[in-house]
Amino acid sequence: MLKTFSTQHWNEHFPDSAQQQAIYSLENGQILYFPQLTFQLTPHEQIFLSPDYADPHTKNISYQASQGRLWGVRHLTDEQHVQLKEMMDRFSKYSLQLIKELLPRYSQQLTMGRTSFRPVQISGRKTSYRKDDKRLHVDAFPSSPNQGHRILRVFCNINPNGEDRVWRIGEPFEQVANKFLLQCSKPVPGIAAFLRLLKITKSYRTAYDHYMLQIHDRMKADDEYQKNVSQEEIHFPPHSSWIVQTDHVSHAAMRGQHVLEQTFYMPIKAMKDESQSPLRILERLLKQPLV
Ligand code: SIN
Ligand code: FE
Repeated sequence: MLKTFSTQHWNEHFPDSAQQQAIYSLENGQILYFPQLTFQLTPHEQIFLSPDYADPHTKNISYQASQGRLWGVRHLTDEQHVQLKEMMDRFSKYSLQLIKELLPRYSQQLTMGRTSFRPVQISGRKTSYRKDDKRLHVDAFPSSPNQGHRILRVFCNINPNGEDRVWRIGEPFEQVANKFLLQCSKPVPGIAAFLRLLKITKSYRTAYDHYMLQIHDRMKADDEYQKNVSQEEIHFPPHSSWIVQTDHVSHAAMRGQHVLEQTFYMPIKAMKDESQSPLRILERLLKQPLV
């Protein structure tokens, strides 16, 4: 499940063999794991390791590097606002450096998504089942259709109290799809244009997005499945990092506090083997194009 690298620096150079291994592992639904790759906070950044600065209505503090915009925050002075933005900007740059060095094939075609900081303890957090990331799921976003693009995420556990980030990892995507596609309804004709018109979605919700959302929701809703599907618990200790394609890997975040995360989007043509993408797998199972 984990492909481990001994990397210690975000700009480390990787030999060709490591780059090949990384692509192969990711596209097979594995997680790239960097137990020695950490993100150092400066002394004045330490105070941000507290849930007090996160807006209680949002799970995360978010940053968009392309716009220099920070949101989901509260109780920050102007100076702290700038400092937190700088911290997240640094993480976003480091993540991009790592992807460029390890996955140069992908990096040329990536779009930078948002950076998030998650200073709220996961366990005990109450939400609706749809928003509950303690339930196994593949990522799909109701308001942000990704139209078949892959979701690539870099995580780093920056917990100062020795606390692991604990995930469960479920079965391979093709098995997930096989199980839940049968329960999925077809997209209602015209609904995607309607959602777009009303600005409920930020772009057109393709048939791919429709099925991914349904799979996401139906997995989370199924208590029996959550309990009984074959799964593995994984611990990411403090000061470790990992890369995962969360549209493909069935995951649930069970415990932990203080993680940084950078999202990238990428077209499936950047993949070495696009037949392993959720888009192509769903198209194969449904015998129809979905974007
Ligand atoms: C998720 O993507 O479901 C949550 C991951 C995390 O915050 O550790
Ligand atoms: Fe997720």
